Amino acid sequence: MKIIIVGTGYVGLVTGTCLAEIGTEVICVDVDQKKIDNLKKGILPIYEPGLEQLVENNYNKGRLSFSTDFEASVKGASVIFIAVGTPPGEDGSADLKYVLQVADTVGTYIEDYAIVVTKSTVPVGTAKKVKAAIAAALDKRGVDLPFDVASNPEFLKEGAAVDDFLKPDRIVVGVESERAKETLTKLYQPFVLNGHPIYFMDIPSAEMTKYAANAMLATKISFMNDIANLCELVGADVNEVRKGIGSDPRIGTRFIYPGIGYGGSCFPKDVKALFHTADDYKYNMRILKAVDEVNDDQKFVLFKKIEKHFNGDLKGKTFGMWGLSFKPNTDDMREAPSLILIDELLKAGATVLAYDPIAMEEAKHFADKRVIFVKDAIDAVKGAEALLLVTEWPEFRLPDWNKIKSVMHGRVIFDGRNIYQAKTIAAEGFTYYGIGSQP
Ligand code: UGA
Repeated sequence: MKIIIVGTGYVGLVTGTCLAEIGTEVICVDVDQKKIDNLKKGILPIYEPGLEQLVENNYNKGRLSFSTDFEASVKGASVIFIAVGTPPGEDGSADLKYVLQVADTVGTYIEDYAIVVTKSTVPVGTAKKVKAAIAAALDKRGVDLPFDVASNPEFLKEGAAVDDFLKPDRIVVGVESERAKETLTKLYQPFVLNGHPIYFMDIPSAEMTKYAANAMLATKISFMNDIANLCELVGADVNEVRKGIGSDPRIGTRFIYPGIGYGGSCFPKDVKALFHTADDYKYNMRILKAVDEVNDDQKFVLFKKIEKHFNGDLKGKTFGMWGLSFKPNTDDMREAPSLILIDELLKAGATVLAYDPIAMEEAKHFADKRVIFVKDAIDAVKGAEALLLVTEWPEFRLPDWNKIKSVMHGRVIFDGRNIYQAKTIAAEGFTYYGIGSQP
C-alpha cells in the first residue's frame, strides 16, 4: 500500500513516520522546499521524543521519503492524508484554505481510485467540502474517477506523539463506503493488536469526535482552575480536593490538574473553533465560551500572586523563570502561558531570566526581546527575587535547594504547576505560592 501524507507538520510527520514503521511505503509531501530538504538530511521541524530516530530508520530503509512534487508522488497512491494546518481565522474559526488547496491538487493529479483522508482537525462539514473540491478539479480535467473521502481525526499529545500513534487508545474513522472502510481497516489493524478499538462511523460524527474530545479535556482543566481559585478564597487546598474527587472513577484522576492555563496549538484553537461552529448554527455553547474565558484569565494568576507578594513594586526586580514551552517534552511555544507572564513582568519593569531545557531557541521567536535566556536552571535564579516554575519539566522536580539559595537573592517560589510540596519548600526557608492552596 502506498500512502501520501500532505503536510509535514507535527501531525503529518508523526503519521507518515509511524505508518512507514509498519512497512508501508510513505511519501511525505510539503510545499516548503526547505523543510523537505532538511527532512532528507534528518533535520526535523519539531522536537518530539523518539521521532528523529524513527524518521532516520525509515528513511534509510527507503520506506519513508520526502518530496515537494505532489504530481509525481501521487501516482499509485491508495490513501492520501491531508495533514496541513488549519490556522484560526480572524474570528477564531478554523481557516480551511490549505485543506481545500490540497483537495484541489488531489483532484488535479490523481490517476486512480484513492481515499482522501482528512487528518487535520477540521470543522464538521469539511470532508464534504473536500469531496466537492476534488470533484470540481476532476471535472475541470474532464475526468471521471471514483474516489472516497474519509475523516480520521488525530488524538496525539505533543511530547508523547510517537507512542500515542503506535499504541492508540482508539482510532476513529469516518467513512462513506465499504471500500474505504476495508482499506483503512487493513492500514490500521497493525496498531490495534493490543485489542483497542477502531471505531468506524459516519463522517460528521468522526469530525465532531475530535472537537468534543479536546473540548471535554479543556473543560476539565478550566473547571479545575476555577475550583483552585475558589479553594484559595475559602481556605481549602486543591491538591487535596483533586485527590478527593479523582478517586471517583466517574471523574477520574487525569486532566484535573490546575495550573496557569492550557496552551499549545490544539485546545485554545479547537475550543474557539467549536463554539464558532455552534454560533454558525445559531447555537450558543455557553460552557465552552466560559472554558475559554477562564483559561484566558488563568494565564494571569501567577503574575497577580507575584504582584501582590511584592506589593505592586516589581520595578528593577529580577525573576528566574523555569520552563517556557506550553508543557514539558516539547519545544512548542504556541499559546504558552510563559509568554503572558513574561509580558506582564516586563511591563511592570522587572527583569526576566529564563531557562528551558529544550524550548529556548523556539522561545526566542515568540518572547519579548528583553528576556535574558540563560544556560541552566541555576543561572536563571542568580540574583533573583523569586523563582517562577512555569513548565513542569522533569529536571525541575528535585532541585538542589542549597545551590539555589547560594545564588538567589530572595526566598520566594511561585509554582504554576503545583509540582512542589509546600511543606518541603517551607522547610528550605522559602515562602511558597502554589495554585489553589494557601501561601
Ligand atoms: C491535546 C490533546 O491532549 C490530544 O489528545 C490531542 O490530540 C491534541 O491536543 C491535538 O488536538 O492535536 P496537546 O495539546 O499536545 O494535546 O497537550 P496536552 O497534554 O493535552 O496539554 C494541553 C495543555 O493542558 C497544556 O498546556 C497542559 O499544561 C494543560 N493541562 C493538561 C493542564 O493544565 N492540566 C491538566 O490536568 C492537563
